[in-house]
Amino acid sequence: MKNVLVTGGAGFIGSNFVRYLLEHDPDVMVFNLDLLTYAGSPANLDELPHASRHTFIQGDISDRPLVEDLLRRHAIDTVVHLAAESHVDRSIHAPSLFVQTNIHGTFCLLEAAKRVWLEEGRRVAPEHRFHHVSTDEVYGSLTPDEPACREDRAYAPSSPYAASKAASDHLVRAYARTYGLAATISNCTNNYGSRQFPEKLIPLMILNALAGRPLPVYGDGRQIRDWIYVTDHCEALLRILAQGKPGETYHVAGENQPPNIELISLLCSILDERLPDSPHRPHAHLMTTVADRPGHDRRYALDSSKLQRELGWRASTSLAEGLRATVDWYLGHPAWLSAIRQQPSFGEWVHLNYEARGGAG
Ligand code: NAD
Ligand code: DAU
Repeated sequence: MKNVLVTGGAGFIGSNFVRYLLEHDPDVMVFNLDLLTYAGSPANLDELPHASRHTFIQGDISDRPLVEDLLRRHAIDTVVHLAAESHVDRSIHAPSLFVQTNIHGTFCLLEAAKRVWLEEGRRVAPEHRFHHVSTDEVYGSLTPDEPACREDRAYAPSSPYAASKAASDHLVRAYARTYGLAATISNCTNNYGSRQFPEKLIPLMILNALAGRPLPVYGDGRQIRDWIYVTDHCEALLRILAQGKPGETYHVAGENQPPNIELISLLCSILDERLPDSPHRPHAHLMTTVADRPGHDRRYALDSSKLQRELGWRASTSLAEGLRATVDWYLGHPAWLSAIRQQPSFGEWVHLNYEARGGAG
């Protein structure tokens, strides 16, 4: 692997992955294509290690001429596709962009890769790889007693976001099977860590707790997600790129499955510990029940034994350790936080979402 095109590399997982790749592969050149929507920020790429091996391109994955030009001009041999609309609540509120970006955008990338890698005589990259980053949400909701999903589980997505990711996974598989694209897919559980946009549960709770604002708990708060520290996910991605077999799908799981209210309580106790002088202690008192997410999936769980067995990967960060590191990152980056707080797309959304759930003020 030499010339890698990362899509969505200014977002949460993408920017962590770009950092990880530059740090762990001394030969790689990284080309980072990101539209810089509300969720992507140049600030996520501050102080990159080995920045001379990184090139940022602001652009749309749906712009096929642009993508084809990048593939040819930089002799890209590997695409790691992370660009997406990623927030479930926003997909319920306004699904159209999810169809556009996640389905049509992935289709455009696949078409560009097919054209340049497969139809132009394999001159650009005799060995190529298209890796698609997906989610556990494609399998829909599990009951409490069901075993974790393996890679052969049938898809049953619930939200427009999950349906759009499921559609994009199907397209990637179709291009592998029909045209011989050397594609791999990974489905991962809930990531947390540095640089996550604070519309998602963990960073939203941290920001609200710092300001003494309510911590909105959807419904009874007993929903279960499997939480993985973002660096563990990045390590899994690198492992799949290096050793994964084209045509295969790999599950990436954190194996930390507290119900939401237990997770939020743990986060609050870490904030209490880190902020002994805060007037908002104990932060758990800020937890406030609000109306549930429509169609809210009760539980997700992935079985990642294939990745463990075949590629020797396993998540190594405990939830307590990862949450402490995450809280410390947010506390240590006030400029990043205040830039986000000033973004209209953040304030307006959080307010709208909270009020829509019957939250007051
Ligand atoms: P994010 O919302 O933080 O980042 C998405 C990035 O994509 C942003 O930088 C945005 O500017 C960019 N983008 C959006 N539309 C684009 C377009 N048309 N062209 C180019 N760039 C565009 O998302 P994330 O949480 O980092 O998720 C990254 C990927 O991982 C997504 O595909 C998501 O479905 C998947 N995933 C996320 C999680 C999670 O817990 N966050 C778990 C499993 C899988
Ligand atoms: O499972 C992987 C998925 O995880 C990714 O594919 C998505 O891109 C990512 O956004 C995430 O989706 P979730 O919907 O699970 O994440 P979110 O942080 O929005 O919510 C996590 C849980 O917390 C979920 O059960 C809803 C609940 N929640 C969320 C928010 C924002 C609350 O109770 N209160 C909140 O304010």
